[in-house]
Amino acid sequence: MTKTKIATTSEISTTKALKVKANGQSLLVSKVGDRACAIANKCPHLGLPLSSGKLEDGVVTCPFHGAKFDASTGKNVRWVSSVMGITLPEMGQKMMAMGKEATDVACFAVTQEGDDLFVDV
Ligand code: FES
Repeated sequence: MTKTKIATTSEISTTKALKVKANGQSLLVSKVGDRACAIANKCPHLGLPLSSGKLEDGVVTCPFHGAKFDASTGKNVRWVSSVMGITLPEMGQKMMAMGKEATDVACFAVTQEGDDLFVDV
């Protein structure tokens, strides 16, 4: 594990996750409440990036099929539900999930020193 500076406090937001690289891994850094949080920028459904998804009320929505993840814990709060923003009926959601079960995203502890934010990855 390597301690890596990923951002400063002024670069993170509650409405747009910041995409960063740390030790070769792509992460999303966001502000939830007054805390800085980091999760993997890789949806566990098909491995696509979450970085162009919405961040709303501390939840990141995958832009591809609507899976939702808590930006502070990585916990899946809703699995596959849509295609490019169009909500699917339940049968369509099951088909789009392609047999994959709901899965959490990796979460990384963020530490702060002054205005600088770090993760150990
Ligand atoms: S790739 Fe994210 S929900 Fe399908």
